[in-house]
Amino acid sequence: MDEHARPAPYHDPAVAAAYREARALPDDVLAVWAGALRGLLPHARPRVVVDLGCGTGRFTATLARTFAAAVLGMDPAPAMLRECRAAGAGALAAAHAEALPLRAGSVDLVFLSMVYHHVDAARAVPELARVVRPGGHVVVRNATRDILDGFEYKRFFPEARALDEERLPDDLFAVRLAAFSAHCRARAAAADRPIDEPVDLFAFRRRA
Ligand SMILES: C[S@@+](CC[C@H](N)C(=O)[O-])C[C@H]1O[C@@H](n2cnc3c(N)ncnc32)[C@H](O)[C@@H]1O
Repeated sequence: MDEHARPAPYHDPAVAAAYREARALPDDVLAVWAGALRGLLPHARPRVVVDLGCGTGRFTATLARTFAAAVLGMDPAPAMLRECRAAGAGALAAAHAEALPLRAGSVDLVFLSMVYHHVDAARAVPELARVVRPGGHVVVRNATRDILDGFEYKRFFPEARALDEERLPDDLFAVRLAAFSAHCRARAAAADRPIDEPVDLFAFRRRA
């Protein structure tokens, strides 16, 4: 295990296989997320995208389609990358957020879905700032229910924090969230695995 790795279940092939199976998102839900991403970055035209902590690749192909971009999936867990590769993802690399093997300013968009709580933010955030080109973006997708206090940046966005606490976002977001929650409930019933993912999406833009 290298210096960046934290104890995590994702190195276990059985966990990786279960993750792919239990958390697979059907096309209509992925379409909701594609719309959410487009809505979040209405003027961005990212050509080089990193799906950081891509796991089994739930969002990798959707990112490529949504932005017509080249997407590089990166994850420190070989077991997750194996599942991702088996699902047909394109370019993949083993890497940690804290030490990205990428040139400075070489990426238009880094996407992190349910990854931020795993990283050492003090080291990962400067890495994100380094690899993203001026004017480029970082999008963070979080399941926030239990870990609100872990997100340092929320201090600077008290209204977002309040929104998360109330879980009463605007209508459009509520529609999307409802669709996703319905999907999770349906899957949980089918597979007897309780899955629920209230999430928020945060976009950061590097100063041009
Ligand atoms: C909950 S999974 C999310 C996977 C995928 N992004 C998704 O939304 O389905 C968390 C992923 O973060 C990865 N991860 C853990 N520590 C990381 C780090 N320091 N840098 C990058 N990825 C990390 C894990 O290996 C795992 O695949």
